[in-house]
Amino acid sequence: MKRGGFVLIVILSALLPAVTAVASSAASAIEAHKHLGVASCSNSVCHGASQPFRDSNVQQNEFAIWQEFDPHAKAWQTLGSDASKAIARKLGIGDPASAKVCLDCHADSIASDMRGERFQLSDGVGCESCHGGSELWLNAHADKGVTHEDNLKNGMYPTDQPIARARLCLSCHMGTADRMITHRIMGAGHPRLSFELDTFTWLHPHYKIGEAWTKRKGEWNGVRDWAVGQGVAAENLLELVTDDKAGWRGIFPELVLFDCHACHKLMSGKQWGPRQGTGLGPGVVRLNDSNILMFRHVLAPVDKAAAARVLEQTRALHKATTQSREATYAAARRLHATIDGLLPTVAAFNFGPESLDVILASIEADAERGEYSDYAAAEQVAMAAQSVVVAFENDGKVGGEKAEQLRNRLDALYATIKNEDSWSSKNFRSALAALRAAAP
Ligand code: HEC
Ligand code: HEC
Ligand code: HEC
Ligand code: HEC
Repeated sequence: MKRGGFVLIVILSALLPAVTAVASSAASAIEAHKHLGVASCSNSVCHGASQPFRDSNVQQNEFAIWQEFDPHAKAWQTLGSDASKAIARKLGIGDPASAKVCLDCHADSIASDMRGERFQLSDGVGCESCHGGSELWLNAHADKGVTHEDNLKNGMYPTDQPIARARLCLSCHMGTADRMITHRIMGAGHPRLSFELDTFTWLHPHYKIGEAWTKRKGEWNGVRDWAVGQGVAAENLLELVTDDKAGWRGIFPELVLFDCHACHKLMSGKQWGPRQGTGLGPGVVRLNDSNILMFRHVLAPVDKAAAARVLEQTRALHKATTQSREATYAAARRLHATIDGLLPTVAAFNFGPESLDVILASIEADAERGEYSDYAAAEQVAMAAQSVVVAFENDGKVGGEKAEQLRNRLDALYATIKNEDSWSSKNFRSALAALRAAAP
């Protein structure tokens, strides 16, 4: 029984074409077993305590925290808001709270025959949307002697492992071929999506990573999470670009995959400047390459030659988009293969204090070359800087006044990108330089 489910996933993914197998693996793993519903987790002696338990491996108040603070708990309710109704009206899809295209990301939209008795769509993005269907592990997972590995074998999703976690989060926070956010949905008023694994993992946590966690699940490293998140996001984009269905709408490529501000910009701006990362001239719509760009900085302390290879293949991809669909697919697949080959090394790399400095220097060198003229890239840089600053604090490299100064400069950096319609890349650059000057 246990093994049956596992083998099924393996067979399913073997049947899918190589690239989509990667993209759909998070969703298919999550959906491999019945979802019993949030009510199955929220008993007060399970995860529904009002205060953290003292003698337990986990807090046991996860449900309370999720319900009160985590926007995932309200994701389904959001579909009843005026904003959602306006989006749905413009798209002509009826009630958003029952439209599959919205439910796919705003709820646990598993097939109805896979829902247990206590399952409720109105729970939004519930425990099993991330931790996987609990059919096989619910009863046993808290028993003495049951290990994390046992749970994973029974279908619990490895949210602790950065590559798997990134794929999971991005399946909703960027979209995949079968859970797609389109430019038409954006055009109807949906907020632009942006994601960074480390930042987002810590925005509304219901977990604590301490000694007890490390003992059971291994080392935690926020900068490594940032690094892996960039690689997986870059892959996710390339998978969408090379998907005949998701990547195209009529005679146009799917615009959501491109840099929003390549088109949505004031005509009086006259702000175009060259970017080494694209090699493109003025007046060309660019793929949103912000994650690919950041992955080069990830590689700076890991493998310099690989960083150069990624730069060269990214430029080749941008160039190919001005030539043909075939050339674009070929270039995107090459870059995807390169990133895929590097990810295990990145995931195993120990991003210690020295590497943080190398990353910051690499990011700043790009700033001086004018690489962050695109908003999406600047936004990713700010989130990277945040990961690095937190790492400095955790490593004990900064403390007291110095830490406060660094925090203030990080806030100042964020302030320069607060408004995506009226930000200045020049102000962003000087705020970044100031941040770097305050770094240890
Ligand atoms: C099933 C889809 C889905 C998955 C999987 C998912 N999210 Fe979300 N997430 C959403 C939706 C939808 C929202 C917006 C909820 C709302 O406001 O209605 C959201 C919101 C968030 C927010 C709040 C953003 C803000 O501006 O405050 C954070 C943080 C977040 N998600 C982090 C994550 C992380 C980290 C993961 C992976 C561990 C993840 N999400 C996995 C769908 C998902
Ligand atoms: C690919 C996944 C995906 C799909 C499909 C999707 N959403 Fe979202 N939606 C998100 C995420 C993720 C967020 C949170 C963005 C953030 O804060 O970073 C969000 C945010 C929103 C918000 C803003 C919520 C807030 O609190 O400000 C609204 C409204 C919304 N979605 C409505 C819809 C509607 C209506 C549909 C169907 C037409 C839909 N969404 C389809 C992923 C998705
Ligand atoms: C958006 C994705 C997401 C949702 C929804 C979610 N979790 Fe989590 N959960 C995580 C992540 C990421 C971690 C931290 C990594 C880990 O320990 O696997 C985590 C950690 C935990 C832990 C600590 C595990 C440990 O070994 O220390 C528990 C317990 C937990 N979650 C329970 C719940 C419960 C109960 C719910 C529903 C009320 C829930 N989670 C909803 C993503 C999610
Ligand atoms: C290739 C050019 C191009 C790109 C790239 C692009 N858009 Fe658009 N966008 C358009 C066009 C064309 C329209 C339609 C204008 C109309 O309906 O008159 C539009 C409309 C919109 C609208 C509706 C505006 C309104 O006045 O109602 C929004 C919102 C929007 N886009 C958001 C985005 C976001 C977010 C992204 C990036 C994820 C993006 N766009 C990327 C060209 C683009």
